Amino acid sequence: MEPFVFFGGKGGVGKTTVSCAYAQKCADAGLETLVVSTDPAHSTSDVFDQEFTDEPTPVTGIDGLHAMEIDPDDEVAAHLDDIRQRLSDQVSPAMVSEIDRQLEMAHQTPGAYESALFDRFVEVMRASEPYDRVVFDTAPTGSTLRLLGLPEFLEDWIERLAHKRRRSIDLFEKAAIGNREPRRVMDGDPVLARLQERKEFFEFAGAALREDAAFFLVLNPDQLSLNETARAIEGMSERDLAVRGLVANKLTPEPDPDEEGRGARYLRDRVATDRERIARVREEFAPPLVAEIETRTSEVKGDLLADVAAELDVETAAEPPTAVDPAAE
Ligand SMILES: Nc1ncnc2c1ncn2[C@@H]1O[C@H](COP(=O)(O)OP(=O)(O)OP(=O)(O)O)[C@@H](O)[C@H]1O
Ligand SMILES: [Mg+2]
Repeated sequence: MEPFVFFGGKGGVGKTTVSCAYAQKCADAGLETLVVSTDPAHSTSDVFDQEFTDEPTPVTGIDGLHAMEIDPDDEVAAHLDDIRQRLSDQVSPAMVSEIDRQLEMAHQTPGAYESALFDRFVEVMRASEPYDRVVFDTAPTGSTLRLLGLPEFLEDWIERLAHKRRRSIDLFEKAAIGNREPRRVMDGDPVLARLQERKEFFEFAGAALREDAAFFLVLNPDQLSLNETARAIEGMSERDLAVRGLVANKLTPEPDPDEEGRGARYLRDRVATDRERIARVREEFAPPLVAEIETRTSEVKGDLLADVAAELDVETAAEPPTAVDPAAE
């Protein structure tokens, strides 16, 4: 299994639960494991009954397991501060307030959230060296997937910008008769350097996601969840990302055969509907079903987590990463 494992799926299907169960399974198998959550609701803290922060923290009672929680709102704010800082270093003070205004507006755009979160994911992947496995309780979808197309786009942009700059420097040199100063300025051009850095960042992200990551989708036996799963599989395959397997969660438990009465009849009906949906999942979706997890009577935590982990037919054995981080060279 690849070093990075993602569990995606619609809201509330059980991504955090399954991620924590799988992470625990990896740690129990002797792998140094980090589970990364992006839930604003801090569900990882609920699962392990422990507070986590933006930094990996050892999970009490589980050897080899660390957890961290990324708060998407904090990420957007930090991301904007970073951009503001970089820009203020490069433009006149008069421009700074205009830029602030523009950034505030950018903050409100739907892509800002995903973009900031994606940056943070990639940073976690880059800094994953102490771990054999990093488990993310979400998977890139929609606009995040589109970010993976950025390297080609940036490449084009960098080329054109560099070409323009080179031309204007040549003209300047001709006018200034051999003054080499502008050439040196271009070599250290902060705008070009930044674009280049971003391009390499997204290249690393694409390589890490394609070569070093496995994606699983969690689903529930209901129509909306199946629709969402179909869309996610399609969206990912458009970006050359294959879904390794599907986890069916919250299946209805069957009553004992001797049980009669309204409750038992209700459960049997539900079990029949679930089975029909699961049969469709097997028939219509290409990725294999790697787990069928029944609904428990209470939240999945403590000993229940190990039970759920045992039901996951997802390998734990580790493979080292192959994608090269340009920043690490
Ligand atoms: N098999 C199960 N049996 C009983 N409860 C479950 C099961 N799976 C998940 N739950 C419960 O359902 C709720 C939602 O699960 P979870 O937080 O894992 O979903 P999620 O996909 O991460 O949600 P979100 O999209 O909000 O992040 C939690 O209270 C969790 O304990
Ligand atoms: Mg969650």
